[in-house]
Amino acid sequence: MPKLTLLQTGASFEVPAGTRFIDLCQTEDLPQPFGCTVGSCGTCCLVVEQGLESCAAMSEDERDTVTMCTDVKNARLGCQLVIQGDLALRPLE
Ligand code: FES
Repeated sequence: MPKLTLLQTGASFEVPAGTRFIDLCQTEDLPQPFGCTVGSCGTCCLVVEQGLESCAAMSEDERDTVTMCTDVKNARLGCQLVIQGDLALRPLE
């Protein structure tokens, strides 16, 4: 199963492929902020430090929202992130 690591805390979770990050956050009560949950506000913006290659490509809408929030490389929206392989995430600073 894919392993998700939160670099901020060092916590890691093994989850079935296809698990939505937002669902994991709710199940595990993780300290990841969310707002709209539909990819338009940017509150959930984070950085994929490892495993970006296993993430689905960004939709045009996600790209627009990320671009509105930051120019940090490998930034993604947590509410749109689906865990397909090992991932390491850090908060957007
Ligand atoms: S919670 Fe609004 S973009 Fe993710």
